[in-house]
Amino acid sequence: MEIGDLVLQNSEKYMLLLRSLYLQKGYQPYRMSKFEEYDLYAKNKGFLMSDNVITFTDTNGRLMALKPDVTLSIIKNSKDLPEVTQRVCYNENVYRVIKDTNSFKEIMQTGIECFGKVESEDIYQVIVLAAQSMQLITDDWILELANLDAVLWQRLQKESFAGNLRLTAKLDADLNYYNGTIMKGYINGIPSPVLSGGQYDPLMEKMHRRSRAIGFAVYINLLERVAGEQKDDGYLNVALPKGRLGDKVYGLFTGAGFGSPQYSENSRKLFFDNDEKRIRYFWVKPSDVSKYVERGAADIGVAGADILREYSPEVDELQDLHLGVCRMVVAGPRDFEDDSTKTLRIATKFTNIANKYYQSRGRNIDIIKLHGSIEIAPLLGLSDVIVDIVETGTTLKENNLRVLEEVMSISARLIANRSACKFKGEQIEALKNKLAELVEEKND
Ligand code: PRP
Repeated sequence: MEIGDLVLQNSEKYMLLLRSLYLQKGYQPYRMSKFEEYDLYAKNKGFLMSDNVITFTDTNGRLMALKPDVTLSIIKNSKDLPEVTQRVCYNENVYRVIKDTNSFKEIMQTGIECFGKVESEDIYQVIVLAAQSMQLITDDWILELANLDAVLWQRLQKESFAGNLRLTAKLDADLNYYNGTIMKGYINGIPSPVLSGGQYDPLMEKMHRRSRAIGFAVYINLLERVAGEQKDDGYLNVALPKGRLGDKVYGLFTGAGFGSPQYSENSRKLFFDNDEKRIRYFWVKPSDVSKYVERGAADIGVAGADILREYSPEVDELQDLHLGVCRMVVAGPRDFEDDSTKTLRIATKFTNIANKYYQSRGRNIDIIKLHGSIEIAPLLGLSDVIVDIVETGTTLKENNLRVLEEVMSISARLIANRSACKFKGEQIEALKNKLAELVEEKND
């Protein structure tokens, strides 16, 4: 009996196809338990995507963890044979924390590891297998490679998929983890990389192995939406911050020749297009812009550096637009004097920025998260100081507060979705260059 496409979900179908590809190439299936002793992760924190691991105590009193990662378990449970090339493939769930909501997510990964004796030819074959994995899912893919040996790159140019490969100087990947070739696979319309991997000799060393290693994983969950309902119409989707900053930003886009005839100042329409330039604008709350961009609902957008530093979205920062210039400061009552024997109470919307700022100073602090009218907190004794944005300084002045320290300067940044940068790179680059010219002219 054959199981048809009607029965299988997209993700299940790709998982099976990938698995049979890896078996065909001689990779041995590797099955492991959902749990590991927590100690493995505690010792190798630097090699995990996130510090947060779900733990529990087993019936023998051992502290266990739900696996946040597959590679560590495979290496731990395999023999150190530097003279033998070992090849394994797996389908496993890992459990990681979602940054925004702090909730845990189950992520299905299908991948391979090649370790032990890993020579140039093995690295080449793993890259080819990564490319074949992408090709098996769709025709519309790109595999980015960094730190690749020039000879291997030349050789890859002769492969049928050479047009889908990109060599890049820098890849957003953890350099604690990887040492040589790093790769990331993108699919048009999927907002984040679906394949990620590289050589990870530092991890082998840390685990006292004499052998080398390379591997990659495909994030199966992301494949649920391959060739989904939303077909890309070739428009560049731009998220603009609603409000004062947004008007200035849109003015800049218009000045650069990308205005929309559908735009009208007093309209409450949230979308407007420029059909000739194939751009679609939409207004969103300023603090939400980076989310739309990170998740690919917008290809590019404009967000304040305050939001980018606070939430660290996984987006590319393309250009400082020198608009909405202001400062993030610590402010307090005019007569404020810091008493270092007491915990400093800080009211702020920007808890991560405040935390990071005080962390480096070793000051004992208590952060109180507020959502607006921050200036009122020290006046009512809710906090000692605030960490907030100052533009003209009027709000501080009128409330008898003063700037105590400057945390950082802020301005609006053009940001882009990382996947969109690969597939709409030319469009994005052209727009960015025009905006950059205008910004430069204005600053001269
Ligand atoms: C921001 C900031 C300050 C004010 C500073 O508030 O939080 O309150 O602007 O501007 P100024 O230095 O020019 O007086 P926002 O207008 O965003 O309102 P909020 O109180 O809701 O944060």
